[in-house]
Amino acid sequence: MPRILITSALPYINGIKHLGNLVGSMLPADVYARFQRARGNDVLFICATDEHGTPAELAARAAGQSVERYCEEQHEIQKRACAEFGLSFDHFGRTSRLPNHRLTQHFAAVLEKNGLIEERTTKQVYSVDDARFLPDRYVEGTCPNCAYEKARGDQCDNCGRLLDPTELKNPYSAISGSRRIELRDTAHLYLLQSKLQARIADWVAARPGWPQLTKSIAQKWLKEGLQDRSITRDLYWGIKVLKEGKPRPGFEDKVFYVWFDAPIGYIAATVEWAEKTGQGWERWWRADKGAADVRYVQFMGKDNVAFHTVSFPATLLGSEEPWKTVDTLKSLNWLTWYGGKFSTSQNRGVFMDQALELLPADYWRWALMANAPESDDASFTLEQFAGVVNKDLNDVLGNFVNRVTKFCASKFGEKVPEGGAYGAVEEKLIADLDAKIALYTAALEVMEFRKACAELRSIWVAGNEYLQIAAPWTAFKTDPARAAASVRAGLNLIALFAALSAPVIPYTAQKMFELLRLDAAQEARWPSSAKAALARLKPGHSFTATDPLFRKIEETEVAAWRERFGAA
Ligand code: MF3
Ligand code: ZN
Repeated sequence: MPRILITSALPYINGIKHLGNLVGSMLPADVYARFQRARGNDVLFICATDEHGTPAELAARAAGQSVERYCEEQHEIQKRACAEFGLSFDHFGRTSRLPNHRLTQHFAAVLEKNGLIEERTTKQVYSVDDARFLPDRYVEGTCPNCAYEKARGDQCDNCGRLLDPTELKNPYSAISGSRRIELRDTAHLYLLQSKLQARIADWVAARPGWPQLTKSIAQKWLKEGLQDRSITRDLYWGIKVLKEGKPRPGFEDKVFYVWFDAPIGYIAATVEWAEKTGQGWERWWRADKGAADVRYVQFMGKDNVAFHTVSFPATLLGSEEPWKTVDTLKSLNWLTWYGGKFSTSQNRGVFMDQALELLPADYWRWALMANAPESDDASFTLEQFAGVVNKDLNDVLGNFVNRVTKFCASKFGEKVPEGGAYGAVEEKLIADLDAKIALYTAALEVMEFRKACAELRSIWVAGNEYLQIAAPWTAFKTDPARAAASVRAGLNLIALFAALSAPVIPYTAQKMFELLRLDAAQEARWPSSAKAALARLKPGHSFTATDPLFRKIEETEVAAWRERFGAA
């Protein structure tokens, strides 16, 4: 059985994620994982919270909590929201747990042994009043590029430029606001990526099948030339820096940089999963232990691509150990909130917990995936969301299920009617569906989700068109056997639609199987032929006609939500 390892970029611990984060990695990864499981593949789907770095320390401080406590609470909050959204991780770990400490320290040690790590002394921003160095976001000041006065040490939020804290003009401490800032010497570990340039270029060249967005970002970085980068920071919260198993002299108050340890967290979270389930993790990650034939697929937003095509591979390849590296990366563009940024502080946009207060997960899952920011950035608006839900889910899929089950219940009772053979109309339907299923399957296989959703929608539409042509309500008066045949086809289509829709709208698929009194776990296998699917339910099989699968979104609701979530 083919084995597929799937990871989603690890969400930062500081705060629950918004819809843009969700559709940027975790949700498409879940759709793909569900699809591959239904195909009969052995899938391992791993995610975790990314807990180190200055954002975690600063957010904990703002919340008045210890960073340990803060991360623990936020991890549980995110874990619950992910579960409620139906994200089917085999494990949702934490980069702050022991396996990640061990692995990160292991990688640093072998990289150093291989001559790829060097200690360098450089000038860093130091706050006299706070008596500490101010890495990354601990320092703010004026952007050297656009003169924005609240640029952060690692990046300017106004112009987007990546910064080094020492570049800021008029710097001040983000902790105390103090402007008594100096540059002082301090030592850090540098990963000599420049030595790995050729190695990584070859590795990228050996992966020609990457999607365009991924490939172009990787090539841009390779062309600019890989820079040595510092992989430690002057922080308390993080993974300690060791030398021969003991605190490294001069590094007692330093930890590894979050972007060094976070991707190692994919492996570490797999170790957590293995410890929890009693299974082996090495067969997923070590080429010498069976992982050579694993297909590894990563999902992430475009800002993460360089870290996954260059930095993390540098760690893995530089170790000279047989680690599994990624086979293909699906990267997504931004989903914007009415063309602008989602923002917690400015109360702009819907966040995962809020979304589920408004409507069930599948409404969001469908609208997000059908409008996934693949070829370009895409804008999310509540108006468009309501339109998609009302049309696709209500008028097309929900309406189909409702018409078939209600009509059958009223004329034949709540069971698959006897009699009537399939004829020319059904033959055509079957041929039509086979073609569409092939296109849908192919789009999911190459992770083109917008296209996949368009194909799925057109499969649902084919069901409605079939009903329109077969018109069992008319046939029933003159030729009840014909009406029975088309109702039987209709009920079987519900089962087929459930299996095909399950990767995107799993809760609805479950409901559809339930109303047909089918066991979802057994039926979830990917349909191989429409003909077989239309013969699945035998005459006499009983079902339960239920309430509509979806409800419409009213204009008054949209208006209220616009107000609440800061629609522009
Ligand atoms: N936390 C990062 C972000 O949200 C992603 C980390 S991905 C990892 O942008 F691989 F480094 F973990
Ligand atoms: Zn700027």
